[in-house]
Amino acid sequence: MRPVRLMKVFVTRRIPPEGRAALARAADCEVEEWDSDEPIPDKELERGMTGAHGLLCLLSDRVDKRLLDTAGANLKVISTLSVGVDHLALDEIKKRGIRVGYTPDVLTDATAELAVSLLLSTCRRLPEAIEEVKNGGWTSWNPMWMCGYGLSQSTVGIIGLGRIGQAIARRLKPFGVQRFLYTGRQPRPQEAAEFQAEFVSMPQLAVESDFVVVSCSLTPATKGLCNKDFFQQMKTTAVFVNISRGDVVNQDDLYQALASGRIAAAGLDVTTPEPLPTDHPLLTLKNCVILPHIGSATHRTRNTMSLLAANNLLAGLRGEPMPSELKL
Ligand code: GLV
Repeated sequence: MRPVRLMKVFVTRRIPPEGRAALARAADCEVEEWDSDEPIPDKELERGMTGAHGLLCLLSDRVDKRLLDTAGANLKVISTLSVGVDHLALDEIKKRGIRVGYTPDVLTDATAELAVSLLLSTCRRLPEAIEEVKNGGWTSWNPMWMCGYGLSQSTVGIIGLGRIGQAIARRLKPFGVQRFLYTGRQPRPQEAAEFQAEFVSMPQLAVESDFVVVSCSLTPATKGLCNKDFFQQMKTTAVFVNISRGDVVNQDDLYQALASGRIAAAGLDVTTPEPLPTDHPLLTLKNCVILPHIGSATHRTRNTMSLLAANNLLAGLRGEPMPSELKL
C-alpha cells in the first residue's frame, strides 16, 4: 500500500469545540494548532505556516505577502473565522490561486443584536448611568439628569445595507424609527424595500440622520470614510455607531467631534488599533462607549463559525465546493 500523504493544516488559535472536532476527524489532514487563547507570536506563525496546505486564521492574523512567501507553494486554502477579510492580502492570494473561505450569514443575527445593544447603551447613556449608581452620583430623581436620545420618530442612516445592515434595520424598525437612509456602493432597491430605506449620498446621510450606523466592510474605498467633514455635517444631537472596522473611521476626527460636542455620542465595537490602549484619549470621554470587538460573540455563533471555517478549509483542501467561499 502506498503511504497516504497527509495535508498539513495550521490553526492560529484555540477555536470553539465544533470546528476543532471537525478538524480532528479529518483523517486526511495533520492538524497543528496554536493551543492558546492568546495571539500567536509572529515567529510561531511563520514556523507553523511553513509548508502548510491549509490555514485557519482569525481576523487579527495579518496574512500578507511575506507570510504567503513563508508558507510556500503548498498553500491551497485560507479559511478565516470571520466575515471580514480585510486582514488578508487578497490580490496576492488570488495571484497564487489560493482559495479563501469565510463565515458570512452565521454571525449576522448576533452582530445585529450587538449593534442594537450598543446603540441603545450609547444613546441612553447606560455605562455612564451605571457608573453614577456605583459612585454615589445618583443623589435624587432629577428631571434634567442622564437624558439621552430615543429611537422613536428618528431617522437612522446606515452605511452599508448588506446582510448585517439589513438585520440591524429589521431590529430597529419596531422601536418606531420613522425613516431609514442608507448609502453604499450602489442602491439596493430590493433589500431597501423592506424598510422603505432611501439611498442617499454620504453628506445627505450625515445631515439628516439622528443615528448613524456603520456596517460596511473595510475596503480601500471605505477606509477613513467617516472623517472630519462627515462629523461636521452630522447633527449635534446625533449618535454614531460603528460595528464594522475601526479603519472606516478617522479616529482622531471622531475624538475631536465627541470632545467638542460636535456630535452627541459614539458607540464603537471596533477601533484602531485593537485592543485599544488603555490610555487612549477616546477612553477619557463619557460620551463614547467602547466594546472589545464582540459583535459575533455568542457561544452558539462562535461555535457555528468555527464549524463553518473548518468545513470551508476541508472542502477547499479536498477540491470540493466550499460552504462559504469568497469570490476572488
Ligand atoms: C467580525 O468582525 C468578523 O469579521 O467576523
